Amino acid sequence: MPRRRAGRGEASLYPRAARRRSPARRDARRAAGAGAPFVTPALRLKNLSVSYGATPVTHGVDIKVAEGESFALVGESGSGKSTILKAVAGLAPHWTGAIEAFGTPRGHGIDPGFARVCQMVFQDPYGSLHPRKTVDAALGEVLAIHRLGDRDGRIARTLEAVGLEPGFRFRFPHQLSGGQRQRVAIARALIPEPKLLLLDEPTSALDVSVQAGVLNLLKRLRRERGLTYLLVTHNLPVVSFLCDRLAVMRHGRIVETADVSLLRQGALREPYSRELLRSGERTVERQELEADP
Ligand SMILES: Nc1ncnc2c1ncn2[C@@H]1O[C@H](COP(=O)(O)OP(=O)(O)O)[C@@H](O)[C@H]1O
Ligand SMILES: [Mg+2]
Repeated sequence: MPRRRAGRGEASLYPRAARRRSPARRDARRAAGAGAPFVTPALRLKNLSVSYGATPVTHGVDIKVAEGESFALVGESGSGKSTILKAVAGLAPHWTGAIEAFGTPRGHGIDPGFARVCQMVFQDPYGSLHPRKTVDAALGEVLAIHRLGDRDGRIARTLEAVGLEPGFRFRFPHQLSGGQRQRVAIARALIPEPKLLLLDEPTSALDVSVQAGVLNLLKRLRRERGLTYLLVTHNLPVVSFLCDRLAVMRHGRIVETADVSLLRQGALREPYSRELLRSGERTVERQELEADP
């Protein structure tokens, strides 16, 4: 069936439920090129320059992420990766250029419509979860913001989706391990059924022993829900495991955009990218990561 396009005057953003995509369709889309003009990207950043006060941090960043694609931003600390995610999430108010999800631009500041389709998972789940709120309260709050019903059902299903037993529902963050806390943070991002996840170093605050479990979870969720990821990491094995393409950033600019196969082959074009590759940490043991089904 041809993909239905929104008509004139109709909101083109925010499909009601995540569409499941067949691998064949995904491959066809990739073969057509993520930047093919007839495909509306899930996320498009056009000439995005973000500043903190008078200090410019990123300069003219252009990125297109196709629906269902997983795209990594890599680069040394301070290169502006998190700043880009924050601007997309509405947490960095001073920017110029354009940020579009599924063809619809976002404004500056809070944009509930945008947040419904685009959610962020932060690096440090201990910092991003309120210490005095139970898991139930943290998830229920998101449902209230987006005026979504079936509170009990949605919370139960989302906890199950991230691999947490029902008994975790009334726990506080300090009663959870690091890996469980990050699963709660992922559940909080997933519960409004977004199409696009912004993932800022989603496993780097975790013990090595639990990183693989969270990475496997992210891979499965993307596959099952047809999610699109924009992921920030300094860990190149994570990029190789979880992503289709990557952009290398340096001093707030994109140095190179490449298919992840070039990363795996050690064949990135730019000398800076290759230097980054050589210095890349190997903090995730590959044998713990699940192979593609
Ligand atoms: N809230 C902030 N206020 C002022 N400067 C910031 C803020 N957050 C980050 N910066 C600065 O912006 C630059 C990019 O930071 P960031 O995007 O966090 O880099 P990365 O995620 O690539 O490590 C750094 O120089 C950092 O010091
Ligand atoms: Mg960062």
